[in-house]
Amino acid sequence: MPTAEQTSSTSLDLAWVRSQFPSLAQTIHGHPAVFLDGPGGTQVPQRVIDAISSYLSRDNANTGGAYQTSRDTDRMIADARSAMGDFLNCDADEIVIGANMTSLTYAMSRAIGRDLGPGDEIVLTLLDHDANFSPWKALEEKGVTIRAAKFNEADCTLDMHDLARRITSHTKLVAVGYASNAVGTINNVAEVVRLARQAGALSYIDAVHYAPHGLIDVRALDCDFLVCSTYKFFGPHMGILYGKREHLKRLHPYKVRPNTNNIPNCWEWGTLNHECIAGIKACVDYWEDLGRRAKPSVATRREAIVAAHTAIHPHERAMMEKMIAGLQAIPGLKLYGISDPRRFDNRCATIVVRIEGHTPLELATKLGDRGFFTWDGNYYALNVTEQLDVERLGGFLRIGLVHYNTMEEVERMLAALKEIV
Ligand SMILES: Cc1ncc(COP(=O)(O)O)c(C=O)c1O
Repeated sequence: MPTAEQTSSTSLDLAWVRSQFPSLAQTIHGHPAVFLDGPGGTQVPQRVIDAISSYLSRDNANTGGAYQTSRDTDRMIADARSAMGDFLNCDADEIVIGANMTSLTYAMSRAIGRDLGPGDEIVLTLLDHDANFSPWKALEEKGVTIRAAKFNEADCTLDMHDLARRITSHTKLVAVGYASNAVGTINNVAEVVRLARQAGALSYIDAVHYAPHGLIDVRALDCDFLVCSTYKFFGPHMGILYGKREHLKRLHPYKVRPNTNNIPNCWEWGTLNHECIAGIKACVDYWEDLGRRAKPSVATRREAIVAAHTAIHPHERAMMEKMIAGLQAIPGLKLYGISDPRRFDNRCATIVVRIEGHTPLELATKLGDRGFFTWDGNYYALNVTEQLDVERLGGFLRIGLVHYNTMEEVERMLAALKEIV
């Protein structure tokens, strides 16, 4: 996971991390709550809560007005945009803010689809969340042909040969996930972007699941679009779209007439959730603070974000190794995805299993009663559960680790699961 940008050693102050998240101190039926539901949405640090509430109590206004709180709102949105620019390594005017990744992707598929018709093709993958599948598949109604690349069932990795074969001179766009929110596989998105570019196609990366786990650098990737959701990386329930400036300018969004033609605002519809945008800036502040604590010598916000990722990576890796080794020792348990520790660079700490004789819902419910928050089902990665033929069986039990989890929680989770089965 670490990139060339992440070189020098850093350390994670886990006690400080946990002290930032008030919800982690909760108990359920007398058991300490263990948040293994990060892939569905992470907890937020106190500063995000404070930013939201302080915006509402002080600055609450619409944008573009000739008075103080409106000007403050304009400034706050500009700050959040620039913070997200540092988070993804792009310019602030390439950051589009929206309700969530799904609506941003539908908006972009509609806009890109305006110029497409019969003879044009779009390449998708069966490993993706449905939010990076259905919005593109909807363009079939314009005569566009959809081609979906397979994944290898044995280890749930993308079949890169199949993907490469499906990209042709007719391909107009390739949409791929950075990491799977079901089986945890990290895809070689740099190679997918290269293949798309070689064919003259656009690349659209769904980084929603990857964002809490690994550093994103849209400049290094050279992708055309990348989407993520701040509620998956310790921020409020909002979505972010990065688009290369040339595309945001060239494409035509569906929009109301009084809205500006300037980017990025022309891609943002109606009045946005300003209080949550205030929370986005606070979320990036958290990442920056985490990085500066891990590596005090960093100069810029971007360098601090890089240092934060360098610090959390070994911790997530160690928890994942322990969790996967422990799970595999449970009789009747089947783990889906990469299980060989030598290949753990190609996966993140999102783990799905099934256990003979127990439905995922039953396991999640029993774990939930003991304070362990896991998920059951398909998590909208519908093609994955259908291809692996577990959709009709209730999908998987998903255990998601992020950097605020602890080794002790991993041990307790394994003990609870053993007791249950
Ligand atoms: C990989 C992935 N992509 C897309 C989405 C959809 O994100 P949003 O809820 O912001 O629309 C999710 C949500 O779980 C996801 O995990």
